[in-house]
Amino acid sequence: MKDLSVTVKSNKKIAENIYMITFTLPEGAGAMHGGQFVNLSTGNGANLLRRPLGVCMVEGDDVSVCYQVKGGGTKYLSTVEPGRKLQALLPCGNWFDVDDYEHIVVIGGGVGIFPLIATIREHYRTKSFYSYIGFRNIDAVCLYNELAKSKKLTITTDDGSYGERGNVVSAYLKDAANVPADVIIACGPPVMLKVLKQKLEEEKIKVPCFVSLEERMGCGMGACLVCVCKTSDGGNARVCRDGPVFNINEVQL
Ligand SMILES: Cc1cc2nc3c(=O)[nH]c(=O)nc-3n(C[C@H](O)[C@H](O)[C@H](O)COP(=O)(O)OP(=O)(O)OC[C@H]3O[C@@H](n4cnc5c(N)ncnc54)[C@H](O)[C@@H]3O)c2cc1C
Ligand code: FES
Repeated sequence: MKDLSVTVKSNKKIAENIYMITFTLPEGAGAMHGGQFVNLSTGNGANLLRRPLGVCMVEGDDVSVCYQVKGGGTKYLSTVEPGRKLQALLPCGNWFDVDDYEHIVVIGGGVGIFPLIATIREHYRTKSFYSYIGFRNIDAVCLYNELAKSKKLTITTDDGSYGERGNVVSAYLKDAANVPADVIIACGPPVMLKVLKQKLEEEKIKVPCFVSLEERMGCGMGACLVCVCKTSDGGNARVCRDGPVFNINEVQL
């Protein structure tokens, strides 16, 4: 993990309220994998804490992350012009380790799709991805060409304005008997992950499942304990350092 001053190459809107920022590293930061994140300054001195954003694309020394404008930090970030310098701590956390699996089911919703795209990009030439991707509505749909690197892609929207109407967990369950899954990887809103865990238990689907959790963060490097989540055995884990990717059975959702 390195704390680098990076130069913004581009920062553009890719869907309603969603931006992709690409920055160039001054030097290689080593390998980066889907699930890992960047703790990025926002460019505004008033937002001292950095924002954790999942690595989405890595091309040479250029790294892209995508973000939804939510509060003050991401709003300011959306105004940052190419050429600006930002501070980036990267790569942070663990990743979706799919090395031992060939057939991978991907379940993603909202901004959770970005780290999953990094995993698909990394492995789609040698492994098969069966992706179930949920957006709020047609205006939120983005990075279709990246998602389409999957062997099978199902897109859902809450209102049916694009793809199937409904949620991604139901879409996967409908297909589960016909999809050869060695592992499931998932990232999305807490309610999506909670439902996924319940349904896998109810349907007795024993496929290993790894989820990436989203918690508010401070340091992003394991020191401040802002990001602690509860583990299934009643203990605690730091999402930034012990995660953000966990076996779904090891964490309380
Ligand atoms: C590992 C990880 C990966 C993430 N990847 C992405 C991504 O790829 N794209 C994306 O759009 N969002 C992602 N998020 C969520 C993103 O970090 C928050 O939406 C963002 O920090 C909100 O900042 P803000 O200034 O807009 O909101 P504010 O509410 O103004 O932020 C105030 C404080 O709360 C923290 N905060 C607020 N919401 C969250 C949240 N949901 N998670 C963590 N910290 C939060 C901020 O870091 C800041 O310290 C990720 C979160 C985590 C933990
Ligand atoms: S954000 Fe500081 S310990 Fe995780």
